[in-house]
Amino acid sequence: MKKITVAIAGLGSRGLETYARCLEKYPDRVELVAIADIRPDRVAVAAERYHIAPDMCFDSVESMLKVPRLADVMFICTPDHLHYQPAIGALNLGYHLLLEKPAARSVAECRHIAELAQEKGLHVIVCHVLRYTVFFQTLKQLIAEGKVGRIMNVEGIERVAYWHQAHSFVRGNWHVAADTTPMILAKCCHDMDMLLWLTDKTCERVTSFGHLSHFTADNAPAGAPERCSADCPAADTCVYNAQRYYMDMFRRHGDSWPVNVVAPEPTEEKILAALAAGKNEAGCDYGRCVYRMNNDVVDHQVLNLQLADGVTVAFTMTAFTATGGRVMRICGTAGEIFADMERNIIRVMEFGREPVEIDVRKLTSDFSGHGGGDARMIADFLDLLEDKPMNPALTTIARSVESHYVALAAEESRLNGGQVVVIDEFAKA
Ligand SMILES: NC(=O)c1ccc[n+]([C@@H]2O[C@H](COP(=O)([O-])OP(=O)(O)OC[C@H]3O[C@@H](n4cnc5c(N)ncnc54)[C@H](O)[C@@H]3O)[C@@H](O)[C@H]2O)c1
Repeated sequence: MKKITVAIAGLGSRGLETYARCLEKYPDRVELVAIADIRPDRVAVAAERYHIAPDMCFDSVESMLKVPRLADVMFICTPDHLHYQPAIGALNLGYHLLLEKPAARSVAECRHIAELAQEKGLHVIVCHVLRYTVFFQTLKQLIAEGKVGRIMNVEGIERVAYWHQAHSFVRGNWHVAADTTPMILAKCCHDMDMLLWLTDKTCERVTSFGHLSHFTADNAPAGAPERCSADCPAADTCVYNAQRYYMDMFRRHGDSWPVNVVAPEPTEEKILAALAAGKNEAGCDYGRCVYRMNNDVVDHQVLNLQLADGVTVAFTMTAFTATGGRVMRICGTAGEIFADMERNIIRVMEFGREPVEIDVRKLTSDFSGHGGGDARMIADFLDLLEDKPMNPALTTIARSVESHYVALAAEESRLNGGQVVVIDEFAKA
């Protein structure tokens, strides 16, 4: 069989360190043939690692899109604000797409991608990686088996974790909404997708409140300098001390995320140099005091959703958790399911029966990359491109954009004092 050929735009944490690595598992089925990034160091690392010919290395996604189609599929793994235009350009050239989330930053852009994909007959898979995890597939299966009966309400919490908030949403790529997306879209379009998928419903109305309350100048320790350093009076006690945090992560977990975001192919010297260097080209500053950034995204937000058929959802996204992970409680006419993704436990409580606890760690050993979801999504996508039967978990662009509409509607509500946003009207705007 002819190998599927892939071009990757954006050679960062997702493009190079996640998806290119996933492709390595299928040397007989797929080949990475073209790459693009504005950072020459990333292009050089990728070209050497995957033996990419010089004429297939590009200095931006824009220049890669100026030439005729180079591969069957393009993986768009550029920053959030660079998904929409490249997606439209690539669809017009005839590429199938693996499109990082968020697909786009506005309702109109999302709709345009979905309509163009349909018009061209091309696949666009948005990277809602959680769908492909054994954890959520087990949960979906339990619901399909009727363990909770008819779903009435769902409680969900996205436990961002204080350190992940600091890394990504205070110092990192997603700290200014206008440069990227509102945090509820960046972090929780996955959760919105999951809620719609698990309940098998559409969303009708949304209301939301949320604030940036803690990671502000008012909360800086007395005498704290602009950048983390030994001179800071809180250096020994502050959990956000950058040198201590990143060096500790590096010593414990090696060159994995999030340290490889601070310094690609990290060593202790490279990490310390990156922390001292100030803002990088993306405007991130991993060595700066978390109370002295220009961040404007929320650190906690709540949403109420009304889904079709009277199903209700209460959802919280919060930085203020000790560890990360998603927790969900699904309540129905015949029972209740409590699902804790961090502990990998699903507790099924059918009414009138003894509860049953499922330890998802006993169902799979692969929890790397979003609980194993990254790798399984790539495998399912390759099946789809080879015309094998489509895994029902594989989401279409038409369904993916619904999760984006809900997240964008939540932001609209939050910015307007919690007013109710009607999704049908909002999605037409
Ligand atoms: N599906 C998920 O669960 C998940 C998880 C994390 C991140 N993401 C998304 O993946 C995307 C990439 O995130 P990341 O963590 O890899 O970020 P990153 O900063 O590590 O990588 C982005 C890369 O794009 C490059 N780039 C910037 N402008 C470019 C251009 N014009 N042409 C080509 N390359 C360009 C950057 O130099 C960088 O190497 C983001 O949109 C993010 O929201 C998705």
